[in-house]
Amino acid sequence: MLEINHVSKTFFPSTEREIKSLIDISISIKQGDFCTIVGGNGSGKSTFLNMIAGTLFPDQGNIMLDSLNITSFPDFQRSKWIVRVFQDPLLGTAGELTVIENFRLAALRTDKRSLFKRISQNFEAQVKDEISKLGLGLENKIYNPMGNLSGGQRQALTLVMAGMSEAKILLLDEPTAALDPKTAYILMELAQKLIKDKKLTAFFITHDLKKAFQYGNRLLFFQSGKIVKDFNQEEKNIISVSEMSEWFE
Ligand SMILES: Nc1ncnc2c1ncn2[C@@H]1O[C@H](COP(=O)(O)OP(=O)(O)OP(=O)(O)O)[C@@H](O)[C@H]1O
Ligand SMILES: [Mg+2]
Repeated sequence: MLEINHVSKTFFPSTEREIKSLIDISISIKQGDFCTIVGGNGSGKSTFLNMIAGTLFPDQGNIMLDSLNITSFPDFQRSKWIVRVFQDPLLGTAGELTVIENFRLAALRTDKRSLFKRISQNFEAQVKDEISKLGLGLENKIYNPMGNLSGGQRQALTLVMAGMSEAKILLLDEPTAALDPKTAYILMELAQKLIKDKKLTAFFITHDLKKAFQYGNRLLFFQSGKIVKDFNQEEKNIISVSEMSEWFE
């Protein structure tokens, strides 16, 4: 469902500072694939996700989503299909708006007709119900400004929004890096459930090799702007965390 064909990205081309962030990347991703991405600092992982999200554009190559060429679509045109959860909890939601207003904005991405509608009791009940499934008590805070919640709480809510949307692709760039172990666990379990239930295609960048081992049905290893390993479920099953750590040497 997602085809990436010969994508390259160079920052500061033809200067002393030239950085080849992605070099001729081609990969084909099936619907429902949950790809875990590992690789050293600066190996191109976030650039790759930014390219899929439409916050960066390739110099060469193209990106096809269900046969639609989205290569030059900016992020807001892709947000209907693509949801992302960032490492930085301040990104991704509007801090000055309330939780429920953020959910309304997310809903508007797929249904512009409701643009002038007020928040209905029905919508509020639905949002509360979904949020309560997190088990973090956040359903009682839907009229609080998003900015008053902690980073982990905001990230968890972003995921709930993803679950209520029509998104097909979920991008997770070190989503648990700033979270306590309990919230990190809740977030990853929720992500896994969403991916399975809604047959989402997902990318999950992590530096935690245990998590890389534990989550996903496909494992990508980035090195110097290239995908140098692409393991399927069977190959992933027989590799150990210590073998994985040797890739970084
Ligand atoms: N917007 C940008 N402008 C200039 N250089 C950039 C930009 N984004 C990334 N780079 C450079 O591209 C290279 C790859 O960066 P990227 O953020 O994709 O790495 P990463 O694999 O996500 O690393 P990390 O594990 O540290 O998050 C780095 O050398 C980085 O400095
Ligand atoms: Mg990164």
